[in-house]
Amino acid sequence: MTRLLLAGTGLIGARHRDHILAHPDLTLAGIVDPDPARHHPGVPGFASLAEVDVEADGIVLATPTGTHAPLAVEAAARGLHVLVEKPVADTLENAEVMARAADDHGVRILVGHHRRHHPRVQRLAEIVASGTIGRPLAASLMWLMRKPDDYFDVAWRAGIDGAPIKQNLIHDVDTLRMLFGEVTDVTGLAQATRDAARPDTGGCVLRFDAGVIVTVAWSDATPTPWGFEAGTGESPHIPHTKQDSLRIAGTHGAVEFPSLTVWSGAAHWNEEPTPQVHAAEDGIPLVRQLEHFADVVAGRADAVVDARSAARTLAVILEIERTWSA
Ligand SMILES: NC(=O)c1ccc[n+]([C@@H]2O[C@H](COP(=O)([O-])OP(=O)(O)OC[C@H]3O[C@@H](n4cnc5c(N)ncnc54)[C@H](O)[C@@H]3O)[C@@H](O)[C@H]2O)c1
Repeated sequence: MTRLLLAGTGLIGARHRDHILAHPDLTLAGIVDPDPARHHPGVPGFASLAEVDVEADGIVLATPTGTHAPLAVEAAARGLHVLVEKPVADTLENAEVMARAADDHGVRILVGHHRRHHPRVQRLAEIVASGTIGRPLAASLMWLMRKPDDYFDVAWRAGIDGAPIKQNLIHDVDTLRMLFGEVTDVTGLAQATRDAARPDTGGCVLRFDAGVIVTVAWSDATPTPWGFEAGTGESPHIPHTKQDSLRIAGTHGAVEFPSLTVWSGAAHWNEEPTPQVHAAEDGIPLVRQLEHFADVVAGRADAVVDARSAARTLAVILEIERTWSA
C-alpha cells in the first residue's frame, strides 16, 4: 500500500483524489488545501503542508503552477517523493531548484505529463520506433478546443499561465519529445481573440534533433473535434470525438493518431497507399501514472519524466510564449 498526500483538489486534483480513493494499492493519507470546502469526508484535511501530521510516502501536487517549486522543496525536505502537475514550475530556475532539492534529500520528483502513460501514445511510439513508416520527416498537430469563459474566472488563469500554451500545448510538446527527441528550433505566431491579457490562438513550427519538423495549430477559442482529449476520450469533461489530431509522415509511410491508422505500401505519389488500423489496450493514463509513482516510490522504476526532463519541455513552452506580444 502506498500512502499519498494530495495538495490541491481543484480541476485536476479532484481527478487524482478520486483515482487514489478507488485504487486498491493506494491510500489517500491526507488532503492539503487552504480551502476547507476542498477537503474530503473521511480523509484528514490540512490547510498547509506544514500542518500535516500523518505518515505518507509521497505527495501529489495539483496546485497552481506558481506554488509547485516551494511546495515540492518543502515536501522533499520532509522526505516525501513528489508527483507534481505540469508545468514542472513557473520558471526554468525554479525547476532546477526542485531537481536539486530532490537530489539533496534523496527523493524523486515526477512531473505529471500523464500522456506518456496513455496506451495509445505508447503504441504510437512503438510504431514510430519500429521503422514501419520509415524515418519520420514531418508532422502536423492540432489542439483546437473552446474553453468556457468561466474557466478563466480563477485569478491565476487570467494571464499567460492560463493560455493554452502552458495548459495544453505543454502536453503535446512533451509527447512530441517522447517521439522525436529534443527541440532545436521554435518559431511561430500567436494572437488574442478573446478580450484577455493572454494569447488564445496561434501556430508554431518545431524542429527536433532527429530531423523532424512539426507544425502545430492551437487555440482554446474554437469548438472543433480536433485535440488530444477529444480524440482519445481521455478526459471525462470532454466528449469523445475519435477524430485524429496528429499526423506523422515518414520516408515510407505515415501514421495518424489517435486512430493509429498506418498508411504504407506506396513508393511514390503515383501508387496507392493502404491503411491499416493498429490496436491499443485500454487504460486510464492518470491511473497508470499514479501506479508508476508508486513503483518509483518503492524503487521498482525510474521516473519516466523527472523535473529536469520536464524543464526541457517547459523551455520549449517559454519559447512558444515568446511568439506572442500583447
Ligand atoms: N495534467 C493535466 O491534464 C492538468 C489539467 C489541469 C491542470 N493541470 C495543472 O494542475 C495545476 C492545478 O490546476 P487546476 O486547474 O486544477 O487548478 P484549480 O485552480 O482548479 O485548483 C487548485 C487547487 O489548489 C488549491 N491550492 C492553492 N494553493 C495551495 C497551496 N499552497 N497548498 C495546497 N493547495 C493549494 C486551491 O485551493 C485549489 O483547490 C496547475 O499547475 C495546472 O497547470 C494539469
